[in-house]
Amino acid sequence: MLDKYVIHGGNKLYGSVTIQTSKNATLPIMAASIIAKDKFKIFNPPKISDVNNMLLILNKLGAIIEEKDNYIQIDNTSLNNLKIDCKLSKTMRSSIFLLGALLNRFKFAIISAPGGCKIGKRPIDLHINSFKKLGVEVKTCGKQLYFNALNSHPAKIKLKLPSVGATENIIEFACTLKGKTTIKNAAREPEVVDLCNFLNLMGAKIYGAGSKTITIYGVDSLRGVKYTPISDRIVAGTIMIATAICGGKVCLKHANPEQNKKLIEILRLIGCKIETKCDIITISSDANLVSPKNILTGFYPNFPTDLQSMMLTLCCVLKGKTTVQESVFENRFLTVPALIKMGANIKQINKHKIVVNGVKSLYAARVKSTDLRGGAALILAGLVADGTTKVTNIKLVNRGYQNLHEMLNSLGACIKYE
Ligand code: EPZ
Repeated sequence: MLDKYVIHGGNKLYGSVTIQTSKNATLPIMAASIIAKDKFKIFNPPKISDVNNMLLILNKLGAIIEEKDNYIQIDNTSLNNLKIDCKLSKTMRSSIFLLGALLNRFKFAIISAPGGCKIGKRPIDLHINSFKKLGVEVKTCGKQLYFNALNSHPAKIKLKLPSVGATENIIEFACTLKGKTTIKNAAREPEVVDLCNFLNLMGAKIYGAGSKTITIYGVDSLRGVKYTPISDRIVAGTIMIATAICGGKVCLKHANPEQNKKLIEILRLIGCKIETKCDIITISSDANLVSPKNILTGFYPNFPTDLQSMMLTLCCVLKGKTTVQESVFENRFLTVPALIKMGANIKQINKHKIVVNGVKSLYAARVKSTDLRGGAALILAGLVADGTTKVTNIKLVNRGYQNLHEMLNSLGACIKYE
């Protein structure tokens, strides 16, 4: 079974790539489609394992799925099951996004408490407390959670944290709940905005998406639509950081400069040249870059936690010292041991803070992907390390990246997938 990237380091990157559609927009949109007893076409879905898993989950709920070359047809007319397959939901946390849509459609839902993952405990207290505020009865029986929404009602919800998943679940549930529901301290991520655009196209009345306060006026019913989700800002960020690390000049098509503002700011600060025009970003780097001094992740529009691991790899080979602070998740420095094994100079201060002193170069090693974005970060380290690096457990990277090795090889990298 294919499982590792064998990467020959040292090549600069030149050329152009088209960025895939967003994993974190496509998954909640697929989940939300079950609200309507109708047919949907989702165009250009990313060819990644998380989307395949979501299709399997929808199919087990009774959806009829047709996969064509450039779209997926989802027919939710005869959905007949409200229990999410627990084995599948274990492999993918984003199955939690189905909860709001299932409760909307069936007024009942049963889920197995989604496991945490390597980057953190990933609790769902904000989801559960929000549903309770909306009048949903929640019962726990062993590892199963039972939800009963027969007596639900609109509510004013204030989230303790601008949780993406909790914001999306509330919106999916409340969009056909008679009356006005508001979410304060809502998540502002572009993927939340894309979900709201999708639901509004279906006939929902959702206002304020992208701001801290979202207002939802419940409508009677929603209809099936054709939709193309937004481009993946984390994949675009990964390619930009790869270019900064290796040196060269890369043009990213089907990108969104506005959604990567913070990253572009930092890459310009350290010495990259970046031009943006509509949905095109062109980045060039002579790999003679200096440290940005501080990297602090936060909720959108701050620097995204999902790019922190790749940025850490870059900081390992920049001139100077960088302090990296991860404020969103409690265990997202999983690549540190592997980077040190490759010659990086990193000191972990605590679970939210590390200090990196740039080194002249990294050297090749055999390392293992620990999580989706950590795996991508180790691949970027292999691109610049002297010698041949082996990154194993690539199935984690395939959860969110559509043939990352093909994209990088098209730019001049030398990666064998075996
Ligand atoms: C989404 O996860 C993304 N996943 C994550 O991307 C992303 O890192 C995260 O948002 C933050 O931007 C998808 O969209 C599929 P959260 P989500 O709820 O919704 C705490 C990737 O690599 N929290 O915004 O699960 C939580 O522990 C993935 O593509 C609670 O305390 O994230 C975390 O510290 C990784 N209680 C913080 O909030 C809750 O009930 C942000 O989590 C929910 C969350």
